[in-house]
Amino acid sequence: MDSVGKSVIRKDAWDKVRGFAKFVRDLEFDELWFGLAVRAKVAHGKIKTVRATKEFEQTGAVLLLPDEIPGKNYISIVKNDMPCIAEESVEYFGEAVALVAAPNLDSARKAAALVEVEIEPLDVIATIEESAGVLSEIRMQKGNVDVALEEAEVVVHGEFHTPAQEHAYIEPQGVVAIPEDGGVHIVGSMQCPYYVRPAVAKVLGLPDDKVRVEQAMNGGAFGGKEDFPSLISAWAALLAMKTNHPVAVWFDREEDISYSTKRHPSKSRISIGLKKDGELVAIKTEYMLDGGAYTTLSPVVLARGVIHATGPYRCPNVDVHGKVFRTNKPPAGAFRGFGAPQATFPIESILDKAARELGISPLEIRKKNVIRPGDSTGTGQILEESVAAEQCLKEVEMASGFNELHAEIKEWNKHEGKANGKRRGLGISLFWHGGGFTGRGEIDMLSEAEVALKPDGVVEIRVANTEMGQGALTALSQIVAHTCGIPLEMVTYPLPDTSRVPNSGPTVASRTTMVVGKILERCAAALVEEVAKRTNTRKEEENFKGADGRVYSWEEAAKIACNGEEIVVRKQYEPPKGYKGWDESTYQGDAYASYSWGAAVAEVEVDVGTYEVTPLRVWAVVDIGRAINPREASGQVEGGLLQALGYGLFENLTVSEDGRYEQNRLQTYIIPSSADVPNLWVKILEHPSSAGPYGAKGLGELPMNGLAAALRSAVEDAMEIELDRIPVTPELVMEACENAK
Ligand code: MOS
Repeated sequence: MDSVGKSVIRKDAWDKVRGFAKFVRDLEFDELWFGLAVRAKVAHGKIKTVRATKEFEQTGAVLLLPDEIPGKNYISIVKNDMPCIAEESVEYFGEAVALVAAPNLDSARKAAALVEVEIEPLDVIATIEESAGVLSEIRMQKGNVDVALEEAEVVVHGEFHTPAQEHAYIEPQGVVAIPEDGGVHIVGSMQCPYYVRPAVAKVLGLPDDKVRVEQAMNGGAFGGKEDFPSLISAWAALLAMKTNHPVAVWFDREEDISYSTKRHPSKSRISIGLKKDGELVAIKTEYMLDGGAYTTLSPVVLARGVIHATGPYRCPNVDVHGKVFRTNKPPAGAFRGFGAPQATFPIESILDKAARELGISPLEIRKKNVIRPGDSTGTGQILEESVAAEQCLKEVEMASGFNELHAEIKEWNKHEGKANGKRRGLGISLFWHGGGFTGRGEIDMLSEAEVALKPDGVVEIRVANTEMGQGALTALSQIVAHTCGIPLEMVTYPLPDTSRVPNSGPTVASRTTMVVGKILERCAAALVEEVAKRTNTRKEEENFKGADGRVYSWEEAAKIACNGEEIVVRKQYEPPKGYKGWDESTYQGDAYASYSWGAAVAEVEVDVGTYEVTPLRVWAVVDIGRAINPREASGQVEGGLLQALGYGLFENLTVSEDGRYEQNRLQTYIIPSSADVPNLWVKILEHPSSAGPYGAKGLGELPMNGLAAALRSAVEDAMEIELDRIPVTPELVMEACENAK
C-alpha cells in the first residue's frame, strides 16, 4: 500500500508501448476538415491586401479573414498584444494573415497558396542589439552593488550569450475544434486546458463555459505547449464555427520548428566582485532576453531568469536588471527552465573566469560561495529548510573524484591525448530551481484539486494537469494511493477535460508534483476522514476499524460511505507555513516556496584537428526533496541533462537577416541522438520540504539549468580557451583556439 518512494511502472507505459494511447491524430471525427494559416512571407510589413482569388473560390475551401472574428482579435496570455490573425501589420516571418479550411490538408495547402497577399515590407529587427522596444523590465536589488564593486579586491567582467532552442517534442502541435452546443469543444495536445479555454472564448466572443477543452494524450511538450496551443486552438475554433465541421490544425515538423515558440535567446553582461580568497561580495547583471514579436509569457520568463541569475550563491550585494526586447521573430515562449538556463550560464561562466584569475579551482570557488541554511537569496528570502546545494556539490565531487580526475586528465593530455590528437577537459556547474509559480503566483491562482471516491472503492483524481511524458499521471496517483492506503490500481486519473475537472492550474513551472500533489494529498487525507466519519470507524493501516472491533476493508467502507453516490473532496491551494510574502514592486520576499538543487560535472574530449567535442561522462546530483517514484525521477533527470547537452553542444537555431529560422527540420536542427549520450551517472538526494507532498519539491526543469555551463567549462579546460556562448560547436572552438594563439 506504500506507493510513495517506490519505482512502480508508470501507469501509461503499457498503452504507450503497445500503441493504444490515443494522441489527437489517432482520434476519429466525423467529416473532419483541416485548417491552416496563410502566412506572411516577410518578417515585418504593413498589410495591404489579403483576398481570395478567383481560383481560390473554385477550390471549395473556406477563407477566414480577421474582420470575421466575432470576439477579440488577440490571444490572451499575459498581455493582449498578439493578434489571432494579423490585421494591420506583420511582425514576424510566417505570421498568419488569414486562415483556410478544406476537407483535407492537401487541398487546404493548395487553396492557401491561392490567397492573394500584398504586404509592404518594413525594416526587420532580428537581434537584441537592433531592438528599440522593451516588452518587459524587472530589477532585483539587494545591498549596494556599486559600492561593493568599487571596494572589491577583485572584479571580473564578462558578456555571455545563449541561443534560441527548439523543444523538439516527439509530437508536433495539434488540436481539433468541434462545434458543440453553440460553442466549441477543443481536443488537443497541450499542457494547460485552462489557458486555452479563456483564450478561445475571447476570440469567439463567448462566455468561458461555451468552450470545453479536453487534453488528448500528449507526445511531449517541454513548455512548448504551455502558451502556443491557445493560438492554434483559436484558429481551429474560428474555422469550426464558420464551416460547422470539426477542424484540425495539425502542424508538420517544418511548420512546427519554423513558427512555434522557442526558448528566448539571451545576452548577459555580468560583473562580480570578490575577495582575494574567492568570496563573492557583489553580483551585477544585465540580463537581456530576445522576446520575438509579441509579449507571450516573456515577463514571467524574465522574472524567473532574474531571480535565478545569482545562482545558488550567497552574496550580500546584488543588482540584476532584466529586460525583454522586441524583435521581428516568432514570439519566444515557455521552455523547460523558463529563463533559468539562460541566467545560470552567465553566473557559472563568470565564476570559472574568476577562479582562473584567482588561481583556484572551479570547484573551490563554488564551495566557498554556495548558499547554506540561513543565507538569503537575491530577493532577500532567507532559506532555512531543504537547502542542499552544498550536499549536491560534495556528492558530485566525490562521485567524479573531481580533483584526482582533473589531475589524471592533465596527464592524459600530455601523453595519450597528444599521441592521438585529442584533449580532454573537466567542467562543473551548480544550479537551482524554484518550484511553482514565481512570487505571489500560486496565491493569486488559488488552484483547486479534487478526488472522488466511487462506491466500488476506486478513487478518481480530478485535476487539470496533464501527463506529457514527464510522469504526472503516475506520481500524482502514487501520492493519492499512498495517502488513502490503497493499491495504485485503485486510483484513476482520466485525461483532463474542463467540463469535468476544477482549475488546478497549468502544468508548468515544476509545480505539478509539489503544488498540485500537495493539494491532492490534503484531498485524499480528508477523504479518508470522511469515510471514517460516515462509517463510524477509524482508519487503521489499510482498513477501517469500528468501535465494536469490526474491521472493514477499503472497498467495504467505501460502499457504506458512498451509499450509491460518489464522495467528492475538493481543496484549494494553501501557502506553506512560514510563508513571508512577496513584494512585486521591490522584488523582495519569498520568491518560491522551495528550491531544488543540482550540481553537474562533465568530462569532454575535443579533437584538436576537427574541434569536434565529444561528451564522455556526466555526473549529476540533484536534491528534489523526495522522489515519489525514484526510477521515473532519475529518468526525468537524465532526459533534462540530455536536453541541456543539446543546448550546450549541438542545437543551433540561427536567424537570417530577413528574420527566418535557418533550420527547419531535424536534419538541420541537430539534437542529441542515442549515439551522443555520454556515460550518465545520476544521484537523487532527498532533503524534504514541508511545501510539497511527502517532502517532494520541483523536478521537471532543474536538470535543464546547469549542464550546458559545465560542458562549456570542460571545453575551456581541455583547450585552455575562453568561451562566451553556447552551443559549443566545432566552429566556435576553432575560432576561440585561433584567438588564443
Ligand atoms: Mo513550463 S517552461 O513552465 O511549461
